[in-house]
Amino acid sequence: MSEPAGTSSNGGSADASSGSSQDVSRGPRTHGTVARLFHWAVVLMVVVQIPAGIAMTSEPLGGFADPLYILHKGLGSVLLLVVVARVLWRITHRPPSFPDFMPPREQRIAHRTHMALYALLLVMVLSGYVRTVGDGYPIELLNAIGVPPLLPSMPRLAAVMLVVHQFAVIGLVGLAAVHVAVVLKHQLVDGNTVLERMWPPVRKS
Ligand code: HEM
Repeated sequence: MSEPAGTSSNGGSADASSGSSQDVSRGPRTHGTVARLFHWAVVLMVVVQIPAGIAMTSEPLGGFADPLYILHKGLGSVLLLVVVARVLWRITHRPPSFPDFMPPREQRIAHRTHMALYALLLVMVLSGYVRTVGDGYPIELLNAIGVPPLLPSMPRLAAVMLVVHQFAVIGLVGLAAVHVAVVLKHQLVDGNTVLERMWPPVRKS
């Protein structure tokens, strides 16, 4: 995936602290509306998926386990499509350069963190799908709209994917927590405009 313009240099003359979303010399300084909608749709779905996944596998749940499994598998399938689309979008669209007030080293760490988040998201959704379909379980939402299982029964691989899924979720939660903490530090301690690069979900012109 392409790095944000200017990640490895410290060039550019934009006044990044101004909060302006455009800069004539270096292009947009904030993410566009499509990237923002992808970001916040994924955050919303992940925030539902993780508690649902933990709850459905916890005992005792009475009659709640089945609806939670149906929710988790259905929303997980939607998330799979959205994450794949988001990664394809990201590969084909260069993000805005990081603000000049971020030192080059911090820019490189931020870029690598974002790449790792994408990788963990992909591993999480793909392992969830293989774990479910490979073990012969239905995905009710996909069945309802006529999408057949895309894989044959593969119980051994499915068992491995369950472990991969669990580790990917732990990694994702940990890295997302660091990511959010860094954004909050920029916002609340440093008082700069990093949050405005991705918030609100629709970019103001
Ligand atoms: C309330 C929680 C969150 C906030 C406030 C937040 C905020 C942001 C901001 C401001 C950026 C832009 C950073 C920049 O370009 O300098 C960003 C990028 C990103 N965020 Fe988050 N984020 C949150 C949660 C998450 C979560 C949970 C994930 C993963 C599941 C995530 C994944 C990403 C990724 C992959 C990017 C990189 C976008 C790109 O440049 O390709 N974020 N986030």
